[in-house]
Parts: sequence; structure tokens; C-alpha cells
Amino acid sequence: MRLRYIEGQYDYVKNHTKGIVEPQNYDDIKEKFGNNKPLHVELGCGKGRFIRGMAASNPDINFLGFEKSIKVAYRCLKCSSSAIDEEVKNYYIVYSNGDILSEVFPEKSIERIYLNFSDPWPKPSHYKRRLTHKGFLDIYRKVLVDSGEIHMKTDNNDLFEYSVEQLAQDNWELILVTRDLHNSEYVNGNIMTEYEEKFSEFGKKINKLVARKK
Ligand SMILES: C[S@@+](CC[C@H](N)C(=O)[O-])C[C@H]1O[C@@H](n2cnc3c(N)ncnc32)[C@H](O)[C@@H]1O
Repeated sequence: MRLRYIEGQYDYVKNHTKGIVEPQNYDDIKEKFGNNKPLHVELGCGKGRFIRGMAASNPDINFLGFEKSIKVAYRCLKCSSSAIDEEVKNYYIVYSNGDILSEVFPEKSIERIYLNFSDPWPKPSHYKRRLTHKGFLDIYRKVLVDSGEIHMKTDNNDLFEYSVEQLAQDNWELILVTRDLHNSEYVNGNIMTEYEEKFSEFGKKINKLVARKK
């Protein structure tokens, strides 16, 4: 479904208690959390179900959900409930492209990066936009702590196999690879994203990998 741009979306996200727009420096983000807990980042958080669920179940971790579309970031914040926002202190939704990570975050400042149901960009000429393209892996390597991890889920088999290959070639340690997450031992504690729910209802198998920085 094509989302409509509604006048004032940018200001809505900017002024929302859980919104951050186009962050320029790390101190602003640290100040928001007001503590030094480990940081987990999701790139392409969509409507935010995963990041909110993770934040609620992991109060000792800080979470940031990056979303590059202002229309989606707006929808994400618009559909959050103020009761949850009040109670779950440890997350923010960031309107920004994930490619700015290494410009804003210092080296080794992020413990984990989540890539959930990332856009597949099926044309080879668009592969560099894939969030597991070498260009992005170089960014993740900079900002992740030693032994920091990338957690990826997708229904798209082509994107998944590409990602396994890219990560192996780029010397990441693949510590988990499953092509049927929901029927695997790794399903315990799995928090579903909006896309994950939709695709698994259609009977699609969900792929998951975890790659560790070496
Ligand atoms: C297919 S949706 C999946 C949303 C959600 N993760 C889920 O699983 O329900 C992918 C989202 O990632 C966002 N996105 C794609 N590339 C991005 C990037 N480089 N930085 C931040 N967000 C991105 C898109 O705007 C879109 O909302």
C-alpha cells in the first residue's frame, strides 16, 4: 500500500516524545536515554512492533529503530500508545537513513544491529542498496563493538542467500543460520515484526541469521 504524505509529518516525528529526526551527534542520543546501557539498533523498523516488543522485554538495553521514510516513521509513532511510551523508556524511533550510522555513532558503540524484512532490491543494479551489501557491512563493522552482532530475518530467499554469502566473504562469523525459524529451536523468545506476521500467515518460511564481528 502506498502511503500518503500528510502535511506536518516531519514536525510530528520531531516533536514526538519518542521521535528523533536526522541525528547529528551521538551526545544528543545519549542524553535522551540518560544512561550508558548497551545499544541495539534496528534499521528499517517499519511500524515499530519489533523494537517496542524488544524494548519492553529488555529494560537493560537501549533500542533505536531507524526508519528512512518519513511517512512510515510518522505511522510508526502515530500508532504507538502513550501508555506504552510512558512505560517503556528505553527506545526511540529515528527518522533517518541507516547509512549515516558511522557518521553519528563512534566506533564500537553499538552491540547489535537488527535487519528485519529489509527491502530486497531484486535488480543487480540495485544491490548496493541492500542492507547486507559490502558498503553497509563496512559501516556496521566500524560501529559495532568487538564481537558485536547482526541479526537478520527475512522471508526473501534470494536476499537471504546473498546475505549469507556477503557476510561469509567479508569475514563475519555466522553463528546461526536457519531457513525455517518458526519450526526451529531458535523460535523461543522470537518477537514478530509486522511483515513477519503477514508472511508467515501466508505460509512463507522465515529465514534468520546471526553474524558476529570477527
Ligand atoms: C519491508 S519494510 C519492513 C518493516 C519492518 N522491519 C517489518 O519487518 O515489519 C522495510 C522498511 O525499511 C525501511 N528502510 C529501507 N532501507 C532503509 C535504510 N537504509 N535505513 C532506514 N530504513 C530503511 C523502509 O522504508 C521500510 O519501511
